[in-house]
Amino acid sequence: METANTERKKVIFSAIQPSGTITLGNYLGALKNWISLQDEYSCIFALADLHTITVRQEPAKFRRNVLEAYALLLACGIDPEKSPFFIQSHVCTHSELAWVLNCYTQFGELQRMTQFKDKAAKHADNVNAGLFTYPSLMAADILLYQADLVPVGADQKQHLELTRNIAERFNGIYGRTFTVPDAYIPLQGARIMSLQEPTRKMSKSDENANAYVAVLDKPEDIMRKCRRAITDSEACVRCGEGKDGINNLMGIYSCVTGLSNGQIEKEFENKGYGDFKTAVGEAVVEHLRPIQERYADLIKNRDYLEQCYTESAQKALSISVRTLNKVMKKVGFIPRAF
Ligand code: TRP
Repeated sequence: METANTERKKVIFSAIQPSGTITLGNYLGALKNWISLQDEYSCIFALADLHTITVRQEPAKFRRNVLEAYALLLACGIDPEKSPFFIQSHVCTHSELAWVLNCYTQFGELQRMTQFKDKAAKHADNVNAGLFTYPSLMAADILLYQADLVPVGADQKQHLELTRNIAERFNGIYGRTFTVPDAYIPLQGARIMSLQEPTRKMSKSDENANAYVAVLDKPEDIMRKCRRAITDSEACVRCGEGKDGINNLMGIYSCVTGLSNGQIEKEFENKGYGDFKTAVGEAVVEHLRPIQERYADLIKNRDYLEQCYTESAQKALSISVRTLNKVMKKVGFIPRAF
């Protein structure tokens, strides 16, 4: 007999930009967490490809990156049967709501976004309006699904805060329209740092490829990068202040083996950094192996990928169009008769 479960599952929305390589940092810091939320929550995930063109893309490469990122996220364990996983540009409600929200977002608010300031400095030759209004598109992504929770890294917290302000402002004018989303802080957060400069976040845009491990790196490359990771001169595997490199490697090892810091310290009590780095490399290789195998199968299966992203986009459209229609009506647009 079915038990009456009237409690609605909370809605989680998150997205990632398909701009090139997906790193171990993306995987352990965000994706692995998404995967584990799929049963307990009603999850909706997207590849934020509209956001990606705020930085100039080469068309063929961009197309390839999006398809590869899609296959890789499926390989990591996103199950589109449970959690619609779509490509943002396939669901037209996103750009439509983003325009409306732009008109409820202040210039000054956007100007204060630190990511805008950073990216404008980094791409000084192309400080386009899309880069500036990026947060209102992100707000549209989230608010269209009436998301209760949004897993975001520290770098996106400010954007989520702005999303909440936009939602509250709109609700204040027109009555309750949007769910005001909260940040989802994972129980065990993993902030994976650069292997070469462990005070900085691991980033795929790092010029030094030894600074990051890509999820699809070959085993020998993963081993080399781990062995070359920057550590300290204490030669003692324990976490502590000023030991950013070792703290980071312990964090990685802990994520892929499930061991606690205490257990790791014990395992390497009388061993040096060389042994530890080799063990980290091997554990990462083993952890990524099944993902790489699934990826190799999926990327050959274009029809299956197309089916997954198409069905997901259809589901996402039917959910999001309800919010969009509500918004259009409240603002005062003449309802479409078709
Ligand atoms: N801006 C996010 C990033 O670069 C990606 C993103 C787009 C996102 N839309 C979102 C994240 C909505 C969470 C919710 O990481």
